[in-house]
Amino acid sequence: MLENFMKSKILVTGGAGYIGTHTCIALYEAGYDVVVYDNLSNSSREAINRVSTLIGQTIEFIESDIRDAEVLKQVFASHEFFGVIHFAGLKAVGESVSKPLLYYNNNVGGTITLLEVMAEYNVKNLVFSSSATVYGDPENLPINEGSPRSCTNPYGQSKLAVEYILEDLAISDNSWNLIALRYFNPVGAHSSGQIGEDPNDIPNNLMPYISQVAVGKLDKLSIFGNDYPTVDGTGVRDFIHVTDLAQGHVAALNYLEQRTSSINHSDMTKPVGFLPINLGTGKGTSVLELVFAFSDVSRQAIPYQFTDRRAGDIASCYASADKAKTLLGWQAELSIADMCRDTWRWQSMNPNGYTKVV
Ligand code: NAD
Ligand code: UD1
Repeated sequence: MLENFMKSKILVTGGAGYIGTHTCIALYEAGYDVVVYDNLSNSSREAINRVSTLIGQTIEFIESDIRDAEVLKQVFASHEFFGVIHFAGLKAVGESVSKPLLYYNNNVGGTITLLEVMAEYNVKNLVFSSSATVYGDPENLPINEGSPRSCTNPYGQSKLAVEYILEDLAISDNSWNLIALRYFNPVGAHSSGQIGEDPNDIPNNLMPYISQVAVGKLDKLSIFGNDYPTVDGTGVRDFIHVTDLAQGHVAALNYLEQRTSSINHSDMTKPVGFLPINLGTGKGTSVLELVFAFSDVSRQAIPYQFTDRRAGDIASCYASADKAKTLLGWQAELSIADMCRDTWRWQSMNPNGYTKVV
């Protein structure tokens, strides 16, 4: 049948960002057609240009805000989307504490506008970027999807609020298929060294900080606490390569395609509803272990000092990745050494990110 050869078209909000760019490449490689929608508030056209170069064709890009319902409607009216991958959002925890209204407006308000337009155009398949931050300080490790949810900062609250909205939406109307992917700690970069994470300021997160120390942009890493009840006293996280994460989105879309086609053809299949799924490796790595691994791979010294714990940090956080494996057939493949190697390639080829190429 002809329709089997037609590519499904996906709207990717926030597709110019760190995870979005890697996912666009994975989607193209998997045979999906992609339209990127991004206001470039935390990204650049150069990122889109590089994705186009890597995939060998010009990516369709709309520069606009998800809170602009009129532009969204035009986009939905002029494309036939199978679904939306929704990355667009602000993500700096510290900034969210000082600008809570901005975070709720952008992340929660923006998502509501997007969902309203999707409903109007009867596009009801969504993959949403949630976060392990919704688990707060976990009671048990590894963390599975049934663990209690709680958050202490506006960024985390905005992710949790969207999850609740998606749950309510699925209850109200069982034609919605809503997957919330809860990312653990995404790191790494595309193996080409052409795309990667490009923080605006001094990085808040560990891996970009380490790589900027390695490249000589920052003097020394501060390790926030060495008295946690962990293997070496430093915090433990589930670092996941962004390429693996991107593949997780392809797996989620494949799942939605299979499920929705069987719903159409059989009354026996239950709708997807709201489906939260962890994307992590299932393995914890300490801050010091990551520092040593990065130093080994890059052959650079990473000077560090121990300082006080960072407010709001937890000791350990790593996923149970079983649900993703069982339901989506997905599991992370890449190692900590791969994550460090690819981060280092991106950082050393682009010491100033996308803006100033050497
Ligand atoms: P990013 O900032 O690189 O990408 C987000 C993109 O969304 C940016 O290109 C930005 O310009 C765009 N954007 C923001 N608000 C928008 C709006 N109102 N309209 C249109 N575009 C808008 O971040 P990322 O690391 O790629 O994260 C993607 C998503 O995953 C975010 O929702 C983030 O909260 C979530 N997440 C990220 C991490 C992480 O560690 N990177 C962890 C868990 C969850
Ligand atoms: C942080 C956010 C989380 C968000 C995630 C991805 C907080 C409290 N949590 O998670 O909500 O979803 O980023 O954006 O901000 N570390 C150092 N020195 C540094 C930076 C980090 O020692 O300069 C340590 C931290 O104390 C932590 C580990 O490295 O133990 C990982 O930190 P980070 O990369 O910021 O991620 P999370 O804190 O897990």
